[in-house]
Amino acid sequence: MASSNATLQGATIFELNNGQKVPALGFGAMKKGGGTFPPSERTHVKSLITQAINAGYRTIDTSRIYLTEDLVGAAVLESPIPREEFTIITKLAPSDVTDVRGAFERSRALLGTYIDIYIMHWPQGYNKDDPSRPLWPGESPTYIEVYKQMQELIGPECRGIGVGNFTIRTLESLLRDPGVFVRPVVNEIEIQPRNPNLRLVPYCLENGIRPIAWGPLAGGISSQYTNTTSIYNDPLFTSLSSKYDISAGTVILSWLVQRGVIVVPHSSSPVRLAQNRQLAKLTGDEVERINSFHEKVGKQRVTDEAFFDFGWKETPGKRRTFMGWDVVDLGWEDEEGNWLT
Ligand SMILES: NC(=O)c1ccc[n+]([C@@H]2O[C@H](COP(=O)([O-])OP(=O)(O)OC[C@H]3O[C@@H](n4cnc5c(N)ncnc54)[C@H](OP(=O)(O)O)[C@@H]3O)[C@@H](O)[C@H]2O)c1
Repeated sequence: MASSNATLQGATIFELNNGQKVPALGFGAMKKGGGTFPPSERTHVKSLITQAINAGYRTIDTSRIYLTEDLVGAAVLESPIPREEFTIITKLAPSDVTDVRGAFERSRALLGTYIDIYIMHWPQGYNKDDPSRPLWPGESPTYIEVYKQMQELIGPECRGIGVGNFTIRTLESLLRDPGVFVRPVVNEIEIQPRNPNLRLVPYCLENGIRPIAWGPLAGGISSQYTNTTSIYNDPLFTSLSSKYDISAGTVILSWLVQRGVIVVPHSSSPVRLAQNRQLAKLTGDEVERINSFHEKVGKQRVTDEAFFDFGWKETPGKRRTFMGWDVVDLGWEDEEGNWLT
């Protein structure tokens, strides 16, 4: 049976390097399918956010790209829960890197309330004059220049700043820049059983940067990203699911929170929203077994899958690029194709 430990884990609070206290179990306010949903669905999407609030979720992850900032703001402000109990996370879009202050003000206005954590969604950006052209690695404004502008936002309307999809490579260059005087409070990255980030998670924690896992369930059983039967039908997850009387997905969330990671799973189901709060306290050995699960089934980034084709580009004779950068530029792999995360 789910023990009292389960409830305890589900209520875990992490303190960030600026003193902000954030519930480890959050809600991802990106509708399945991404930010492309018709206006007729907006009421429904807002009801999903309200549903999550009613189920006890207080950390809510949105972004300009998901088109849910106004819905998150309205759901939070209409709820009877005091605003200060929430941690609202939103993000600077790659297309907005040439107008950091303006983009922040637009997000702030859409939310109708202050922003707890403002994240640079990706280290890459897009050209101001030709919005379809990505900025090449090193081209201005670089992620360091963008981050320096984000530092200027900190105040009552922006309680903390963070980064997204950064690696050891990009974090190292950011942290050693003399103009960077505020450490990112978080780094929101893809982490799931087939992409466990066994180097990057400890690196972030050692540097006082709290990792947030996006897509922590690899998109769940009917994933929009990839076929996840290799995860959800594996005896490792089915046996832990039986042992703790929680779903395999909740086992995955337990594993992540136990590693010190904030999780922001999405769910449209009140049943799964409630079930996912029953995190188990896994043994050290069980955490290790999930850490090495990828050795059996192979590593896989969901970001490599067709869902993200909008950003991938093939150039003959070169490595393919994602929003203008290849996997070496991003710090995902070395020149030989070894994973660095
Ligand atoms: N920073 C970034 O670049 C980035 C990129 C992508 C996503 N994100 C953030 O991360 C959040 C979560 O990512 P995601 O929605 O792509 O993936 P996810 O959370 O891994 O998967 C969500 C899916 O899992 C299903 N699910 C929920 N609980 C489950 C369980 N216990 N067992 C099995 N399946 C379960 C849900 O289905 P039901 O609805 O049927 O429950 C939903 O379709 C997003 O909402 C967004 O906030 C950030």
